[in-house]
Amino acid sequence: MKQNIIFHENPERLHVNTEPNRNYFLPFSENTDPFETRENSNRFLILNGTWNFRYYDSFLDIEDNFLDIGFLENITVPSNWQLYGYDKPMYVNTRYPIAYNPPYVPDQNPVGLYQRKFNVDLSDGFQRFLNFEGVDSCFYLYINNEFVGYSQVTHMTSEFNITKYLVDGENSITVMVLKWCDGTYLECQDKWRMSGIMRDVYILSRPKERITNYRVVTKYKQSCECVDIELTVKANTSVIAKLFDANDNLLLESSIKDGNANFEIKSPVLWNAESPYLYKLVLNTEHETIGEKIGVRNIKVENGCVLINGVAVKFKGVNRHDSDPITGAYISREQMLKDLLLMKQHNINAIRTSHYPNAPIFLKLCDELGFYLINEADIEAHGSVEASHTTDNNGDYSGIALVANIKEYEKSILDRIDLMISRDINRPSVIFWSMGNESGYSKTFEKAARYIKSVDNTRLVHYQSMHELEGIEKAINNEETLDIVSTMYASIDWISKDFLTDQSEKRPLVLCEYCHSMGNSPGDLEDYWKLFYSNDRLCGGFIWEWCDHGIDMGKAKNGKTMYAYGGDYNEPIHDGNFCLDGLVYPDRTPHTGLKEVKNVYRPIRINPIYIDKGVYEFVNTYDFTELSKTLKCRYEVTEGGKIIISDKIDIFLPAKSKKIITIPKLAGLSGESLYVRFIFTQRNDTYWEESGVTVGFEQFAIRKTVSKINPIESKTQIDFKEDMRSIDIIGKNFIYSIDKRTGLFSTMEFNRIKLIQKPMEFNAFRAPTDNDCSVKNDWYKFHLNELITKVYSTNIIKNKDCIEITIHLALGWLAYHNTFDLINKIYIYNSGQVKIRSNVKVADKRPYLPRFGLRLFMENSFSDVEYYGYGSYESYVDKHRASYKGIFKEKIWEMHEDYIKPQENSSHFGCEYVKIGNDKLCLKIESEKDFSFNASEYSQEELSKKTHNYELEKSGYSILCVDYKQSGIGSASCGPYLSEEYQFNEKDFNLNFFISPEI
Ligand code: GAL
Ligand code: MG
Repeated sequence: MKQNIIFHENPERLHVNTEPNRNYFLPFSENTDPFETRENSNRFLILNGTWNFRYYDSFLDIEDNFLDIGFLENITVPSNWQLYGYDKPMYVNTRYPIAYNPPYVPDQNPVGLYQRKFNVDLSDGFQRFLNFEGVDSCFYLYINNEFVGYSQVTHMTSEFNITKYLVDGENSITVMVLKWCDGTYLECQDKWRMSGIMRDVYILSRPKERITNYRVVTKYKQSCECVDIELTVKANTSVIAKLFDANDNLLLESSIKDGNANFEIKSPVLWNAESPYLYKLVLNTEHETIGEKIGVRNIKVENGCVLINGVAVKFKGVNRHDSDPITGAYISREQMLKDLLLMKQHNINAIRTSHYPNAPIFLKLCDELGFYLINEADIEAHGSVEASHTTDNNGDYSGIALVANIKEYEKSILDRIDLMISRDINRPSVIFWSMGNESGYSKTFEKAARYIKSVDNTRLVHYQSMHELEGIEKAINNEETLDIVSTMYASIDWISKDFLTDQSEKRPLVLCEYCHSMGNSPGDLEDYWKLFYSNDRLCGGFIWEWCDHGIDMGKAKNGKTMYAYGGDYNEPIHDGNFCLDGLVYPDRTPHTGLKEVKNVYRPIRINPIYIDKGVYEFVNTYDFTELSKTLKCRYEVTEGGKIIISDKIDIFLPAKSKKIITIPKLAGLSGESLYVRFIFTQRNDTYWEESGVTVGFEQFAIRKTVSKINPIESKTQIDFKEDMRSIDIIGKNFIYSIDKRTGLFSTMEFNRIKLIQKPMEFNAFRAPTDNDCSVKNDWYKFHLNELITKVYSTNIIKNKDCIEITIHLALGWLAYHNTFDLINKIYIYNSGQVKIRSNVKVADKRPYLPRFGLRLFMENSFSDVEYYGYGSYESYVDKHRASYKGIFKEKIWEMHEDYIKPQENSSHFGCEYVKIGNDKLCLKIESEKDFSFNASEYSQEELSKKTHNYELEKSGYSILCVDYKQSGIGSASCGPYLSEEYQFNEKDFNLNFFISPEI
């Protein structure tokens, strides 16, 4: 029986006895509704469920008579066996998980043997087609113990005609799945490396006389405002085609002659992601009916722009992997829908199916809901980079094209591309065919691109990985085959200074990956979008990536889900938490990053013209939708955070147009800290959102003034005592002590309540975010996390209303010059209020700073936080578009953003005050300049040290950091280095805080 197991190390034999590639469709019995979900077709027999299972550590251990041996265990199909206790998941990003030895794979090649029984009644005379929508990595198929065939390609359908192997009644199906095969060299995608039957398995019953393949091409003709629908059908029987509109009105009917039919529709309703109108085509044969939804749209590149239906569109995209913490690579229709609805709610209109095609249902959902797709072939050979390194060419990236240049792999690369195109050719949502990810360029890819163009000239070809192997004849990369320029993580500077000024490059640009959303991220989104909107050649980008790929390992003692990432299974090689770089947590709870995306991807933008006069320019960034059709607009004016005016505005604004509007109520306003916020809400209920929900907003400062802070006048007495170590300041209802070794308060007691539980500190550190990955080494080098103080001098003056203490000090660490030199002035007023004014000078040759400010440890009952600043989401200088300036009140524990790998989180930028306290007392901290603060129960030390959120322990304090400034967030974990604009690089600045205890 083992004699047939010979194909998985042979790139010449990719599929054995599979059916020819065809477009995805689902047959229904005649006279039934073919637009029902497929479970409703009596021609569809799903084989998902519980299967018998046997696992082998190595392919070599398989018995000669393996088909005759009974099964003791079972497993759920579809699934990955590593999530069922067999073998172990492995997370590796850019490297091959096996020795590089194509087409060979290790002898220690794990195998999952699956078996189940099913019943058929063959009396109908129909043929039976067994479909596997995805098996990782390859499989041998047996029906009733007879060898049927073989196939390899994880994320694609393999179909077998199993009719002749079947008997009436009970049958058995056995599937031998191997973890590795020669195809593994083309599946080095950044994901958990897991195996098994991981997508749906089903049998289709089909008559002998049937349709085997068909294609619909829609050609919109501007001249007559009509569309030609060209239908090509491969069938061995007669076919009647009927075309209906979306409301089931029959428009046209025709029989297919010589495999062709043509329909012309006058004034067609076009498909786009904003209004995804779908016509219905029904193909009837004597014994079958097939339904196909058709979107009429036209895609082309003209004058360097991607035009859909003549409009230069913007892709507000994300990259999406199939990934779930429990079901692994298997994603059911409900799970897909959940992702897609969440995307819709967050203004996302485009998806790159990184880095393989999704299950066919996914594309159908995208057609219906309205998404533009970069459909990517199941190809990535990233491991080639590492594999091509020797001791002397380390760091060279051109080796990425290693596998792409192996002649024997040409067939496999073309096969994967053809499979995708054949299956998805009729999907209106597919705008781009992508030849795969990170595999380098070569003659093979050149050939593939030409092939795609020869088959389908109605869509665009996308490929990003243009590195070629050194020392070989270069392949041709031209506009004829590669319609657009695609880059990853290009900086804003590169786009504006290099790409847009390159006279030899006329094509549009898409960022197939940008704004790497790992942990607390992304910080640079809005800046990209300002740039994208400035030029029609920039057609948008796809954020990396949609979801965190953590694996659910059950609950920790504290009730939190334990999500595993790279290394948690003791993998021999792994890439740590690089799999946690999504906009949603594994369970699809949004990160704050997704909220940021929502408002940056908002469908309306406003430019202030004359703020004083209430004049604003409104820009509708929908590509096809008139604004008032979907949105309502209102505005709110706040003074000091309190609403003083609110009203609605009616705006009629066609797609992509702008209009200057004067709002009389916004003219000539006076007051302090005045802001106006325009809010756009959903007008009507949609499939994904209820009416009234905010779709986007924009806020402007009318008068950004921060008022001068004056201490409360008090006639009470204040005095001080001083010794070598400290200065005690004693007022009517307070006693404070300043430590001469730190230059700051060591204790503060007000009304017999301890305001601080530990000495106050200067703080120049934050728990590094994933994006701080490279700069953090410099922060640690200068030990910003554990600065040592040197006090040079202390001076005390007693004024009428306060005691003024001036301390000259330095902060640094061993071995280097001190990093900071401070003149710290502390004023303690009779009222018990305190002003701290420090002039800070930073030494040369230091990295940009994470932050600089004060850190206070308070009793943990100080849990009520109120602030006037950017909220309620965490906010930073470059990540605050989800937030707006307002007054927010929260409990301290609600302010923590629980990133799976703990890091700095939940700061608030642009603040005028923060209060923290309990029902007896609170501390109010203000500044005459906008500041940032962070209130948390976790210390930055704890957040830096712990590697998983479920390990975090509360400090027992309410910790408040108030910062003169904090550096931005950026997206440097994979993207460009934090832009200079957002680096806290000042060398001389003044910290200025006013602290008032309030009863
Ligand atoms: C890109 C790659 C993605 C992902 C990302 C890092 O280079 O295409 O698959 O690995 O880097 O998260
Ligand atoms: Mg990769």
